[in-house]
Formats: sequence, structure tokens, C-alpha cells
Amino acid sequence: MKIIVCKDYDAVSKKGASIVKDAISMYRKPKLGLATGSTPEGLYRELIAMNQSGELNFEHAETVNLDEYVGIDSSNEQSYHYYMYENLFNHINIRPEHIHIPLAEGDRLDKAVAHYNAELDYVGRRDIQILGMGHNGHIAFIEPSDKLSLRTCVVELTPETIAANSRFFASEDDVPRQAITMGIKDILNTDTLLIMATGEGKAPTVKRLIEGKRLNTHFPASMLHLHTNAILLVDEAAYSLVEDVHE
Ligand code: F6R
Repeated sequence: MKIIVCKDYDAVSKKGASIVKDAISMYRKPKLGLATGSTPEGLYRELIAMNQSGELNFEHAETVNLDEYVGIDSSNEQSYHYYMYENLFNHINIRPEHIHIPLAEGDRLDKAVAHYNAELDYVGRRDIQILGMGHNGHIAFIEPSDKLSLRTCVVELTPETIAANSRFFASEDDVPRQAITMGIKDILNTDTLLIMATGEGKAPTVKRLIEGKRLNTHFPASMLHLHTNAILLVDEAAYSLVEDVHE
């Protein structure tokens, strides 16, 4: 895993955007994997600026998103659909039919899972996948567990994740208890994996990712070590607890 340490959140956002640009600008039909959450918001602002200045073209780009809450309407402001349109898609020249985000609004969750796996298979291997990490090492919505799914699945959110994500909702009770998420194999199906973490709150997670020497299903981010072109992009605060960088 290649590690890049930048000064602060803004520097991480700029560096992340330049890595994305390098990964996709040579392709007429780039394929991007996208994440939600606070971490990539600055990177998306940079991509929007690049698109609006003509530096980066999304006209033929295809995107897939990692995850979505179950039982939340896509027009709900807390949905990841809403987030993606607000933070990126409304501001770039991407075509709506090229946007793929899992959707689990009805009661046929098995259908939603099969449908998203089919969409992922249709898009195929991405050029780059952007990824954040939860404090507990979750990636996408793959929570610590005895078993991790390879493909898209529905998961129960842990109390820790519900508490962490309650900052976006009126109260903790409003946070959905389930999510639909790509599986480990889906996440790794990309030429470049860009993992971002910023702020001192993520420092223990970054330390565990870098210093942990074993795959551990109770720390899903450890699976990212399986990728041969993974880049960990962090700011100084998130890197502050790291002592041993030898793999
Ligand atoms: C979002 C996602 C999550 C977040 C993680 C970190 O699509 O899949 O795994 O990346 O919860 O969230 P932030 O960036 O808000 O700290």
C-alpha cells in the first residue's frame, strides 16, 4: 500500500483530485467508483472545478457508488443518492443514465441486491475507486463481522456506525438500521484504489490499517491490503499515531 501524507484536509482533497484526474483523463469512457461521507466532499469540489474549467470531461464517464441506506427514499436529503447529486452530479457534465447507485426502497431486498450486482457486472472493472473508512474500519457499509460478503449484500449497521452517522439526521432514532453495500470483491475490482482519511478522529483507524499485519474480518479495511495498487491518502492529523510503516 502506497502512503501519501498531506498537510491538511484541503491538501488531501487537491491531491485526491489530481490522482483521480491522472487515473481517468486518458480514457474517453472513464469508470469511477464513488463514496459518500464527509471525507470526499473536498475532492468532489475539486473535480467540479476541473470539469467546469474544461480540464476533466465526464460526458462519457460511468460511475458506481458503494452503498445506500435501506428504506430511505432517494429524494430524502439524507440518502446517498441525494448526497451524490448535491455534491457532484448536479455540477458536472455526467449523463444520468451513466450513474449507478444501489437502491433498496421496497421490501424486495433480494431483488435490489441482484439488480446492483448486475449493474456492477455491466460497468465492469473501474479505473479508480474512491474510498473512505469508518472509525471501526468499515469500508462502504461492510461492518466488522465474522464473515464479509464478496458481492453486494444487505447489512445491519453497528451501533457505532449508527452513532457516527447520526450527525446527519435529526436524531439517532432516525438513522436507518440497514444498508445495501458492495461486497469486498466488488470494492477491489478497480485498477486503482484511493483510500482517504482525514482528521485526528481517524488516527487510530489509520494506525491500525498501516500497522496491522493480518487480514481481519473484524477490521474490514484490512482487506484493502489485498489490492496491488492501493493508495492511502491521509492528512497529518490522521497519520499522527503511526509508528511502524514496514509491511
Ligand atoms: C460512504 C461509505 C462509508 C464512509 C465512512 C467514512 O459511501 O461507504 O464507508 O466512507 O463511513 O465516512 P466519513 O467520510 O464521513 O468519515
